[in-house]
Amino acid sequence: MSTKSHFHDLLCDTDALVAEALASEKKRQQSQIELIASENMVSRAVLDALGHEIANKTLEGYPGNRFHGGSDYADVVEMAVIDRAKKLFDCEYVNAQPHSGTQANQAVFFALLQPGDRTLSLGLAAGGHLSHGAKPNVSGRWFDAHHYKVARDTGLIDYDAVERQAQEVKPKLLIAGGSAYPREFDFERMRVIADKVNAKLLVDMAHFAGLVAAGVHPSPIPQADIVTCTTTKTLRGPRGGLILSRSDEWAKKLQSAIFPGVQGSLHTQVIAAKAVCLGEALQPDFKLYGRRVKANAIRLAGVLQARGIDVISGGTDTHLVLLDLSSKGITGQRAQDVLYAANITSNKNPIPYDSTRPSEWVGLRLGTGAATTRGFGEDEFEQVGNIIADLIDNVTGANLDDQITSAQHSVANLCGQFPIYS
Ligand SMILES: Cc1ncc(COP(=O)(O)O)c(C=O)c1O
Repeated sequence: MSTKSHFHDLLCDTDALVAEALASEKKRQQSQIELIASENMVSRAVLDALGHEIANKTLEGYPGNRFHGGSDYADVVEMAVIDRAKKLFDCEYVNAQPHSGTQANQAVFFALLQPGDRTLSLGLAAGGHLSHGAKPNVSGRWFDAHHYKVARDTGLIDYDAVERQAQEVKPKLLIAGGSAYPREFDFERMRVIADKVNAKLLVDMAHFAGLVAAGVHPSPIPQADIVTCTTTKTLRGPRGGLILSRSDEWAKKLQSAIFPGVQGSLHTQVIAAKAVCLGEALQPDFKLYGRRVKANAIRLAGVLQARGIDVISGGTDTHLVLLDLSSKGITGQRAQDVLYAANITSNKNPIPYDSTRPSEWVGLRLGTGAATTRGFGEDEFEQVGNIIADLIDNVTGANLDDQITSAQHSVANLCGQFPIYS
């Protein structure tokens, strides 16, 4: 390839395989209703930042203390992430660099714990996350991880039980947050429990950070020692993480835990995109978006329940709705496949006390972030709920193909009304 081509040719002119796959992916996003709770649709401005030439820049270290030259403009965008996150979440310390939510959590473990130290977090089947001490993850291999559950009858965290368990386990780190718990955590109670057993409190707000930013969910910043999150999901930014704290107490340890502890050089273009998404979250209309995400989830849960589908915990306080399909006699995988055939994307999930084998899980996790971003309101989510209920009611019946065809038409109609990315 000539130098001129290298700098000027577009992907569609140089790599047919990748260009076609990306074009198809764009079409898929336009023509499907995205209900995966960890997904969203970033703004054109965030995409611009992600595709910017700043991606060429190698940098290690922090603004004002870099190992490489030429950091002037990367410093501007990293400082923008720090300043904007401080303002948005009302905190003193921000680390802008985690490549992912998992690495943000890994850095907190690295900063606060020694291998073998005890942790206590929400179990996977109850809605916890792999990076909170699950066995296949380094957090579960190298630390003595214990897990609390939710009550079998309510699907809610029983904080008295967590306190009893904390007194037995005596963890060094207590963790709140997860990927499939649809309710608010009681941060004040978790703080009290942490103090009683002399543990540090980590809140991972990956899923609900956007709702905190929008003011429709309590903030964990005042109670937690450290807060981690992803910039994806409800915060609606690029793939990456943040570490936050109400004070600078842990700043030095956290800085060196990220670099050189668990990461190397920056993903400079992602830092720029994080700055853009945080700038967007500081705008007044982000509050409206947050209110709509939550209202849409409440409506979706309500419709599904009214149609006879069990909803874990009886509803939601967030963007997330977790269905229990056991009374319908189908697995989460089967429901996910049937919804996908109708152009609705979702994911199978364990429900509390579910089997550990994914093929036997009876949960289906839904979320309202992405479809809310494209403009769906409560009326549209009422339609979506009915489409899903019609499909689930017919999974084992003779009319499934007709039902899928009918659902495809309804989905196409809804997606056509709410186009994305010109
Ligand atoms: C609660 C929680 N923490 C951390 C993560 C990990 O984020 P990432 O996929 O960026 O590593 C997730 C991802 O879904 C999550 O739900």
